[in-house]
Amino acid sequence: MGLLGKIAVLGAGNVGGSLAQRLAEADLAREVVLVDIVDGLPQGKALDIQESAPVLGFSTRVTGATSLDAIAGAEIVVETAGLARKPGMSRSDLLSKNAAIVREHALAVKAKAPGAVCLVVTNPVDVMAQSFRETSGLPAARVFGESGTLDTARFRWFVAEALSVAPRDVTGFVLGTHGDTMVPILSHTSVSGVPLTRLLPKERLDKIVERTRQGGGEIVNLLKAGSAYFAPSATQAELVRAVARDEHRLLSATAYLGGEFGERDIYIGVPVVIGRGGIEKVVEVDLNPEEHEAFRASVAAVRADLALLSHPPSAA
Ligand code: 2OP
Repeated sequence: MGLLGKIAVLGAGNVGGSLAQRLAEADLAREVVLVDIVDGLPQGKALDIQESAPVLGFSTRVTGATSLDAIAGAEIVVETAGLARKPGMSRSDLLSKNAAIVREHALAVKAKAPGAVCLVVTNPVDVMAQSFRETSGLPAARVFGESGTLDTARFRWFVAEALSVAPRDVTGFVLGTHGDTMVPILSHTSVSGVPLTRLLPKERLDKIVERTRQGGGEIVNLLKAGSAYFAPSATQAELVRAVARDEHRLLSATAYLGGEFGERDIYIGVPVVIGRGGIEKVVEVDLNPEEHEAFRASVAAVRADLALLSHPPSAA
């Protein structure tokens, strides 16, 4: 698989900047372009990353731009742009403001990079991925979101810490929405094949599940201003690499369901195989009745947000 020509990262905040750095260092494309409306921000971060190339040894050209024209011909587009909730802002305000940004960018992709595989990161990610896909008109396989990959990384770390084992030996899935109703799947979690449920008692597992569900909030509370970006950019880079190198990785991501898991016309976190064309397959793993029930509740939470977006309370 040859080197990609261009990867575009929309939004040059902490997540976008950190992701651009990881992508450049992984030498996945000839060019990584960082785009943001704040003049100087994408150019400054791009130049800063670029100047590390002689020391780190990567060949990627890193550029910054304020115009969406810069995404022309990109093979991969990552949408990180959007607002974080500010005091006094309702969930509905956040939904509609971020949806407006995501829709503008989806139209730009449709016009300038119609062949791209698109990874959506903007929150609430399940709803934003759906909005991006509907507005861009791109095939569902080429639009997916990062949610479960991050939640799964947090879950794997908490398990590794509890057992004092290498983090990479812990494998499993967190499914459902990227929010309070996410579903860590204990029945498919193991340490190098040894089922997790044999290694930790239920009370410890319950605590790990709860901490995973609050994982993003735990970082926000510690930082006081802003949210996580080191682990998010690492998991986003993992997804981009799976596409760029056609790795056929089996990971958890927000993907379109057309009947899988008994759900239709919704984006939500599920196990998928990811390669050069985007989502190659949704993998319908068996869930136990409790997990299935929790997954359905998670789908209901996303459907409630979708309804809020189409019928905001102020318009009622
Ligand atoms: C997180 O979970 C904010 O979605 C981001 O850290």
